[in-house]
Amino acid sequence: MTADLTLDELRAQYRRDYDPYAHWTIAEHLAEIAERREQAPISYSARGNGCWVLTRYDDIASVLRRNNRGFISFPNEPDGINAMGTSVGQIPIEVDGSLHKQFRALLDPYFSPKRVAEKEDTLRDWANILIDDWIEAGSCDFVDGFALPFPGATVLSIMGWPGEDLHRLNSWADTLMHGVAGGTPEETAAARGVAHGELREYFMQLIADRRESGPRDDVTSGAMEVEIDGKRMTDTELFDLFVLMMAAGLDTVQSVLCQSMVYLARNPEQWDKMFETPESLEPAIEELLRVGAPAVPTRNVVHDEVEVAGLMLPKGERVHFPLAAACRDPEVYPNPDEVIFDRVAKPHLAFGLGTHRCVGLHLARLELKVAFTELHRRMPTFSLVPGIEPRDHLALAWGVNDVHLRFEPGPREKTTAS
Ligand code: HEM
Repeated sequence: MTADLTLDELRAQYRRDYDPYAHWTIAEHLAEIAERREQAPISYSARGNGCWVLTRYDDIASVLRRNNRGFISFPNEPDGINAMGTSVGQIPIEVDGSLHKQFRALLDPYFSPKRVAEKEDTLRDWANILIDDWIEAGSCDFVDGFALPFPGATVLSIMGWPGEDLHRLNSWADTLMHGVAGGTPEETAAARGVAHGELREYFMQLIADRRESGPRDDVTSGAMEVEIDGKRMTDTELFDLFVLMMAAGLDTVQSVLCQSMVYLARNPEQWDKMFETPESLEPAIEELLRVGAPAVPTRNVVHDEVEVAGLMLPKGERVHFPLAAACRDPEVYPNPDEVIFDRVAKPHLAFGLGTHRCVGLHLARLELKVAFTELHRRMPTFSLVPGIEPRDHLALAWGVNDVHLRFEPGPREKTTAS
């Protein structure tokens, strides 16, 4: 620990409470983070089970890089409560060490740039099927009409699950991750219980069917066949992995799509700028990922002492770091709140760093590329529907709801899923 302070004294000296789930807007969270970065780059929040809050790029990057040395990844929330209510770490995000390496060895090949590129046509078809549903109307609910189902269709495709189950799976995932909109905690808990039960039943059947029909070349069969520490995964472990893949792949992409479309509706000149030359789109997507940065990881100190942002923290302390804090550090990104597509800077941390860096990052980038390209082609200009204000929601991923767009109506293209 630092100098001769006891843990209580250290906490008291650095005390500045923070509620990562406060019902603020994302802008309010970012303003609070910016102020903390100036005044208390590392601070102790006594809320919930207590956690140390990091705000600087270098401090956050340093913790992420050392993940398997000095830190553990479970439980992964500042309150010490797992959102899905499980008592063991979720595979692979809350598992460390050699076990984690084995899970990554299973997953990484399916998410390589080459394997992911094979999905481009399927993703393009899905984007157009979804756009077909509302393009003639001249307005759409962008969350329900695109940002929620498109990442869902992508996860189904990479996992090898039937496309016709998209809406059922999305609805269960939505309930598990977000609860009941406007509902009481009891209503949310009850709805989550039902969704969890139905989803479990669905996946148990899917696993049984796959056993009967034989393996295929996809993540689902890969997970069913692989041996981890010499043993096949149990059905419960498979279920946990499948739920995590949905959770990780849906909310994050949805958030970046929604935040970006709200920004682009308010800054229409940037929509065309993204497509100025064939090379413009990729850096623009990286910049939108930087400013969107929806994920908020937490790690626990596991060794006797670990140095974090210049302090020695003892075993058991929890370190919490919104990746948006790193992505808006003005030391690394001058004028951090401005969206500058040709920014020259260090790579952003929206996908994390180190051993737990996002498995799905190539897939996510492809999703965003396909989505923006098809949306721009079919909806060259758009604005927010007047009178409906987008509403931020903050949980393990920061996102935006109520994104209603209006645009010049266009024809359907009657695409079918490939
Ligand atoms: C814009 C979209 C995305 C963002 C911003 C994002 C962000 C992240 C971040 C920050 C982490 C690391 C969390 C930590 O260190 O605790 C992570 C991990 C992960 N992501 Fe993503 N993600 C995105 C899309 C996806 C997609 C599309 C998939 C798969 C379909 C996916 C699957 C995963 C998995 C499985 C992990 C756990 C990796 C591990 O623990 O080794 N993500 N993601």
